[in-house]
Amino acid sequence: MSGTITEMKIQIITLFPEVVQPYLHASMLWKAQDRGIVSYQFINLRDFGLGPRKQVDDTPYGGGDGMLLKPEPLVAAIELAKSKSPDALVLLPTPRGDIYKQSEAKKLAADNRDLIIICPRYEGYDERITTWVDKRYCIGKYVLTGGELPAMIIIDSVVRLLPGVLGGETSADIESFQDDDETVEYPQYTRPEDFRGMKVPDVLLNGHHGEIATWRQAHSKR
Ligand code: ADE
Repeated sequence: MSGTITEMKIQIITLFPEVVQPYLHASMLWKAQDRGIVSYQFINLRDFGLGPRKQVDDTPYGGGDGMLLKPEPLVAAIELAKSKSPDALVLLPTPRGDIYKQSEAKKLAADNRDLIIICPRYEGYDERITTWVDKRYCIGKYVLTGGELPAMIIIDSVVRLLPGVLGGETSADIESFQDDDETVEYPQYTRPEDFRGMKVPDVLLNGHHGEIATWRQAHSKR
């Protein structure tokens, strides 16, 4: 590893910081923060709620089920985050976004720009907030109760690609979905050689690097 590391600041706007914090405070994501590669900051949307009840949601114009996040608290939270990180990219997880893929994770990691990630709740958000958003991502064709899990997926997939986070320099180069294609990583095995009668393929035990590479290539395709 060479050169100086620029810390990527990630600010997460959420009504449930306690849901997100434990995940970011464990394992590689925590180590990345410990090494000064990334920092996580939480902005509680409730702090920007309106009135004595700190209201953040309201009913949709035109009728319909559920509540929407109001624009005033969300935009105030984004503006606070931007004041700390003016060049940050503002990301909004939503089923209305582009499908999030490995190529997007690579792009975000390579850009190394600070990130502000909004976690919507309830039935959605007032569409006018998208004026403050740079990129909308859908993390799969299913509907979740909020943006916290998508935010963690985005953070996890980006941070592990930042230089100095993964153990092996090539760990991220040999894995699945490299070009957003259907290629997935080959199956792997560790000790014991025989587990309840299930044996590790012979080819992986014979030490012939060429044969192992061919076997791995053949088993990389879905
Ligand atoms: N919020 C709810 N469902 C979602 C999804 N599939 N992707 C991104 N954000 C979401």
